Amino acid sequence: MYKTVITFGTFDVFHVGHLKILERARNLGTSLVVGVSTDALNYSKKGRYPVYQEEERLEIIKAIRYVEYVFLEHSLEAKGEYIRQYEADLLVMGDDWEGRFDQFSDLCEVMYLPRTPAISTTAVIEKIRL
Ligand code: CTP
Repeated sequence: MYKTVITFGTFDVFHVGHLKILERARNLGTSLVVGVSTDALNYSKKGRYPVYQEEERLEIIKAIRYVEYVFLEHSLEAKGEYIRQYEADLLVMGDDWEGRFDQFSDLCEVMYLPRTPAISTTAVIEKIRL
């Protein structure tokens, strides 16, 4: 059992895949801290702004019962600093990120959980668009 689990994501157009990863991450430890990526960070990463603005995404994640604390993730490169700042002993990410965060394993455990099949923000947006 870990003490503080940390995870990161955009969590735009909140869906059950998001809920499930937060639930599973929380169940691995005593408390869960979530870094919600900023609108600017998303633009630089994916070339588009999220549907919901960062303050709204932050508020939604904060209201999830599995989540103890939320903050805005301003920079992908600062993950190590966030891990130290929140004294996380486990970093959880979905397995679409498999291997991408192994460099932080000198700071805490790094675990990739299987994604919930057949749902994503992109798929929801596409479905609504059709
Ligand atoms: N996630 C998951 N299962 C899904 C979708 C997302 O476990 N079906 C996890 C991701 O692996 C990540 C977190 O939820 O750890 C936040 O993912 P995010 O990129 O915000 O959501 P996606 O639905 O993957 O968004 P997009 O379609 O824009 O890539």
